[in-house]
Amino acid sequence: MGIYVWGTGCGASQLISRGLEPERVSAFVDNHPVGPGFLGRPVLRPEELPVSDCELLIVTTRHSGDIALQCSRLGLGRERILFLKNHCRLEDMNAPCTGAEKLLGRELLERLLPGQRIISVPARLSSGALSREELSGDYVRLSTLELICRRLEAKVPGAAAELGVYRGDFARCINALLPERKLYLFDSFSGFAPEDGAGAAFQAAHENTSAEAVLARMPHPETVRLYPGYFPASLKGLEERFCLVSLDVDFAGPTLEGLRWFWPRLNTGGYLLLHDWGDPELPGVARALEQYQAELGSPIPALPLPDIGGSLVLCK
Ligand SMILES: C[S@@+](CC[C@H](N)C(=O)[O-])C[C@H]1O[C@@H](n2cnc3c(N)ncnc32)[C@H](O)[C@@H]1O
Repeated sequence: MGIYVWGTGCGASQLISRGLEPERVSAFVDNHPVGPGFLGRPVLRPEELPVSDCELLIVTTRHSGDIALQCSRLGLGRERILFLKNHCRLEDMNAPCTGAEKLLGRELLERLLPGQRIISVPARLSSGALSREELSGDYVRLSTLELICRRLEAKVPGAAAELGVYRGDFARCINALLPERKLYLFDSFSGFAPEDGAGAAFQAAHENTSAEAVLARMPHPETVRLYPGYFPASLKGLEERFCLVSLDVDFAGPTLEGLRWFWPRLNTGGYLLLHDWGDPELPGVARALEQYQAELGSPIPALPLPDIGGSLVLCK
């Protein structure tokens, strides 16, 4: 039984320079081998990996997820795979690998994998009982939210809010990440206003929710204030200052109303997350922002995200 190393590039050489002696490596594995050997050891194609002899496979490339899939097709379980590139993920890829410490020793293991930083969303969000699928659904959106909330917690006063809550998936992430702040939730809880012209199927898809069901899903319901009804009529004279606003109402009309009400009430240093700004299926969102900026007479500093919905982060 031996140790195998996947990859013959920078990651593999990092591993060696951190203290894994090449003599301990039975062979390297690579999808695109540049030659038959590397650092005096043979280089195999994945299909040549002797799975029954592999006590530990250390994956050194960035494509951890793809290689995990390739290994499972080869019959190599995650308990025998250690990933060098285990950071900026929503899960600890190395959690199932129980035998590495015994084989390598704690001291060498810590030298090989220094400063592993898993984006810590699961720690805080686990109190919101989010499933792994929900967490992984939009890594960029969620990890951006987490980093923003860390900054806000320390520096910017004010409440949090979401306009367009649906079943509360994103709202409960906000609630979990800013447990000390009030969270205002605005939604009709019955879909879109007739004048927005949502198609029948889109409307029906958004009717399946309620204020009570959303509240029951919040990890800190005592901080939540629900404002059911069509926005902005649902405000009923509310006055508040905010550090974070999620605006996710899909159409131009309510997006423009949301910008008009929330932007002036956002504290300096705060963020407004405009979901679907880059979604070609929902062009009204970007149009509403254009119109609001024209009303303001100046553009708002903003950062586009490569998340699934094409969010835009407006920065005050
Ligand atoms: C895409 S869903 C929100 C999804 C949610 N932000 C999430 O990430 O899980 C859009 C929501 O906007 C709400 N909505 C649209 N126009 C509205 C308005 N004028 N007033 C209140 N809610 C509205 C709809 O009822 C729907 O629940």
